[in-house]
Amino acid sequence: MNQRTGQELYRKAKTRIPGGTQLLSKRPEMFLPENWPAYYSRAQGAQVWDLDGNMYYDFSINGIAACILGAADPEVNEAVIAAVRAGSMSTLNPPEEVELADLLCELHPWAEMVRYARCGGEAMAVAVRIARAATGRDRVAFCGYHGWHDWYLSANLADDKALDGHLLSGLAPAGVPRALRGTALPFRYNHLEDLEAIVAQHGDELAAVVMEPIRNMEPAPGFLAGARDLCHRAGALLVMDEVSVGWRLNTGGAHLVYSLQPDIAVFAKAISNGYPMAAIIGTADAMQAAQNTFVSSTYWTERIGPAAALATIRKHRRENVAQHLGRIGQMVRDGWRIAAERAGLPVTIGGLVPMSSFAIQHKESPAAHTLFTQLMLDRGFLASRSFYTTFAHQDQMIEEYLQAAEDAFGVIAQALARGTVREMLKGPVAHAGFTRLN
Ligand SMILES: Cc1ncc(COP(=O)(O)O)c(C=O)c1O
Repeated sequence: MNQRTGQELYRKAKTRIPGGTQLLSKRPEMFLPENWPAYYSRAQGAQVWDLDGNMYYDFSINGIAACILGAADPEVNEAVIAAVRAGSMSTLNPPEEVELADLLCELHPWAEMVRYARCGGEAMAVAVRIARAATGRDRVAFCGYHGWHDWYLSANLADDKALDGHLLSGLAPAGVPRALRGTALPFRYNHLEDLEAIVAQHGDELAAVVMEPIRNMEPAPGFLAGARDLCHRAGALLVMDEVSVGWRLNTGGAHLVYSLQPDIAVFAKAISNGYPMAAIIGTADAMQAAQNTFVSSTYWTERIGPAAALATIRKHRRENVAQHLGRIGQMVRDGWRIAAERAGLPVTIGGLVPMSSFAIQHKESPAAHTLFTQLMLDRGFLASRSFYTTFAHQDQMIEEYLQAAEDAFGVIAQALARGTVREMLKGPVAHAGFTRLN
């Protein structure tokens, strides 16, 4: 099949757009250098069409976890079209903002007030600003990835390796003021002793503890409650980043599943199923601090985001979407395991069930993973090591996908045994982490 148009456009893009794309994780080099379709003409449910009209089932990251209901969900689209028809921007404010605030506080009974933004990293920056304003302190202890903003990247000013292991290694802090050095202090998930050390040294300067409630592994017994206690004893605010894990396990933040009560929680991505929207929810005490600082932006007042979020959340709750995501995720995990056993391929499986990933255990694993993507693309699937489930993924598709994955695992196992994996690749090995593109 002809798949060249996307790559031709991408080559041009790199001459006009530094790095080629707006999001690191959508760079074609992260999947299949020189051969990934790169651009889409249409996306619907779990299906994506490239610029040459080829259709694929998306068994990769589904809009980087934004399309939780599937792409172009009809119900969300209808709400968005109604918002567009009614005027998406005005001198006055959209009433959907208040309706959504009520719904978010109903779903999270500990929360009393809500602010909005449109992107995850931006909303996290708002949360950190509010925490700093509320406490009058500068330092932030964090675990995991939270976006591109100065407060976060400044962690790499202190020590080049500080962000390694916090999702993307090698994030370069060029352009981040050196004066921020030492203001963002990393700790590892499930390592309470890291946070204890930060609190012992900087407790009275700590504005916030920022973390995801869960991501790649289950919280160890006592870890979440221990982190909350350390945070509160230091007089800091606990900020839960639900940008990626929110809405995967339940209708709301994953912190609810663990009965964890933070001071602030942040949602983006899946909250609005592909339309820009983000919410910062919190206790009245914490959120009132937004009045003592300046957080304000024109497009935070448009109507499409809150309209899309209301429609997404209502469908999510009504259809018990989280249960579907878990069931599909488990089917795929089981399928990977069986396919790997049949192929004799050493594979480990990890991640949250609705955001699962596998890893081939071999010294040639980067090349083997790239070959998986290449083989699956030939079979009509956008596929990588990670699969973020959506409500649009149905059993029949899963069966087809798992059949193709089993074939691919077989080919990879043979190629690894013969030492021919790299020869079989039509292009270079996929990138991992942050690398500069020329
Ligand atoms: C946990 C978490 N926080 C923040 C972000 C940043 O969100 P955005 O890419 O919408 O700025 C991400 C994105 O992957 C994320 O996973």
